[in-house]
Amino acid sequence: MALKTFRIAVIPGDGIGKEVVAEGIRVLDEAGRKFGFQLEWQFFGWSCETYLNTGKMMPDDGLEQLRKFDALFLGAVGRPDVPDHVSLWGLLIPVRRGFQQYVNLRPIRLFEGIESPLKNCKPDEIDFVIVRENNEGEYSKIGGRIFEGTDDEIAIQETVFSRRGVNRVLRFAFDLARTRKKHLTSATKSNGIIHTMPFWDECFRTMSREYPDIRTDQYHIDILTAHFVRHPDWFDVVVGSNLFGDILSDLGPAVVGSIGIAPSGNLNPAREFPSMFEPVHGSAPDIAGKGMANPIGQIWSGAMMLRHLGLAEAADAIEKAIASTLAQGKVRTPDIGGNASTDELGTAIASAGQNRN
Ligand code: NAI
Ligand code: MG
Repeated sequence: MALKTFRIAVIPGDGIGKEVVAEGIRVLDEAGRKFGFQLEWQFFGWSCETYLNTGKMMPDDGLEQLRKFDALFLGAVGRPDVPDHVSLWGLLIPVRRGFQQYVNLRPIRLFEGIESPLKNCKPDEIDFVIVRENNEGEYSKIGGRIFEGTDDEIAIQETVFSRRGVNRVLRFAFDLARTRKKHLTSATKSNGIIHTMPFWDECFRTMSREYPDIRTDQYHIDILTAHFVRHPDWFDVVVGSNLFGDILSDLGPAVVGSIGIAPSGNLNPAREFPSMFEPVHGSAPDIAGKGMANPIGQIWSGAMMLRHLGLAEAADAIEKAIASTLAQGKVRTPDIGGNASTDELGTAIASAGQNRN
């Protein structure tokens, strides 16, 4: 029988992106051997280096080139000598928006063997998922500045909430809650932001009537950040707008130990376009080239990619291998208190995956 084959576009990017992507590929290829599928990796060198050489992060037909793949596997982009908005708006945002990746999914889990900065937190107590709206909201291009450089200068940035855009991300979050502990929390700020946020709340309330089996609550973003720290065990699925989801999804990983572990998926749930999987962290220029980056965020993102491709058994096995390697505690990178290198940790997880249960 022919092996089930998936075509994956790989964009390692800059800095530690290149180092951790290699480990992600190592672990996923190993899973393919064990579970009987094959990943065909095609590399794209698009990065800040491309920008410095060509004035563009990716070629004009970049999205067309990526479109035919089953999924995209990204490391991280960003370099100190290139402004961050160039790398973000030149590559990540065009892919997320062009491919209608309107859900940014970020699981937060405290693993045994990782010390949380919160005292009294036990490994099985923190296990939730953040669903961030990824296509519109506060991160819009609409706005501008006038009277630049004078005392009369004005800067305006518009927030865009569309009924379609809000409803589709809420729908994804409700459906996801149904597969978990049936509890959905919405991030709002309808006391201060008086047009878009009451609209968001209204859509949330209306949709909740279709999901009587899901327990819902909502908090203003300010107190919600406090609850993330004081009661991280309260949450199952948390849904937020682009900005609120962005903030929560850096806070979440911080609460469970290291940003180096956190994965994410940029999903096009309708599957009209490829989805993109990448760690939450950036290119970490401060540790790039030293072989000390934690590859778990990338490897776990790879597991999410396999799940999206319908390879749930392999995804479960990789997540288990991550958990058991961390619990054993023999191989750790410096950010989680050890002195192992990136490839030593990647290799340990790849071989832990060998034990079928
Ligand atoms: P960062 O995530 O790259 O680094 C923040 C801190 O966490 C640094 O001290 C870094 O050493 C540490 N860290 C990050 N990942 C780690 C890992 N895997 N193992 C061990 N330690 C790790 O965020 P920062 O410094 O704000 O941004 C650096 C560059 O990355 C910027 O150019 C930024 O624009 C870009 N960036 C790109 C992202 C992406 O490609 N999706 C996301 C976030 C930032
Ligand atoms: Mg962020």
